[in-house]
Amino acid sequence: MVVAAGLTDVNFALSFWTALTFLILLVVLGKFAWGPILQMLETRERNIAEAIESAKRERAAAEAASAEMKAALEKARAEAAALADDDELLWRCLFETLRFKPINPGPFRECAEDYTIADGSPSAKRIPAGTRLLVSTQSAMFDERGVVQPKEFRPDRPSHESMVFGYGLHWCIGAFLARAQITQTFKPLLKKRGLRRAPGRDGDLQTIGLMPAHLSVQFDR
Ligand code: HEM
Repeated sequence: MVVAAGLTDVNFALSFWTALTFLILLVVLGKFAWGPILQMLETRERNIAEAIESAKRERAAAEAASAEMKAALEKARAEAAALADDDELLWRCLFETLRFKPINPGPFRECAEDYTIADGSPSAKRIPAGTRLLVSTQSAMFDERGVVQPKEFRPDRPSHESMVFGYGLHWCIGAFLARAQITQTFKPLLKKRGLRRAPGRDGDLQTIGLMPAHLSVQFDR
């Protein structure tokens, strides 16, 4: 005798035993396996989180070491230029240093008439007449739309990529005098061996408002 069962036929006995087996399996798993599985997952989660944290720490340490090495290299380059009496290269090193550490974040301006910055773009900003603004040339000097590889210390970059002496109509009238003063002040200092910040608070740059005012250094001879 051939018995054929259709897909929609219901076999109550089979359904009962299947459900019972499933329930027994559920109870057994719940009693014996669920706890260890959960614990394993938690341990794994913790290990992954620790691995991510440790990778982050290692990355930060590597970045700090790389920044330190870069700074040492930059200092060595300026020292070499000073020792070689290469005023042009020394100035370029100092000028590029000023891009990273300008004397202020930018000039203050008063908006003469209503104006919209970046008009027509999503970041458009309306500035009403009379508003006092800080025009951040410091930020502009790190804008990769106008400065090639802005985060790189490059003494050979073209001078128009720097706004250390301002820009346009009010470009510093004393720029050439400042260039001579800065180069000739730093040259003898950079020729000293073991040039370093003074210990303690004196070795921190003191400012008056935004302007640098005082920094003590030490050297061996
Ligand atoms: C580290 C040295 C110097 C730096 C970084 C510097 C920077 C600047 C900057 C950023 C401006 C533009 C200000 C603005 O747009 O409102 C400026 C303007 C000016 N600077 Fe200098 N400056 C230096 C040294 C000097 C020296 C030594 C003199 C004079 C002997 C001088 C005289 C002027 C004058 C008169 C202006 C105004 C120009 C104008 O409004 O048309 N600066 N300077």
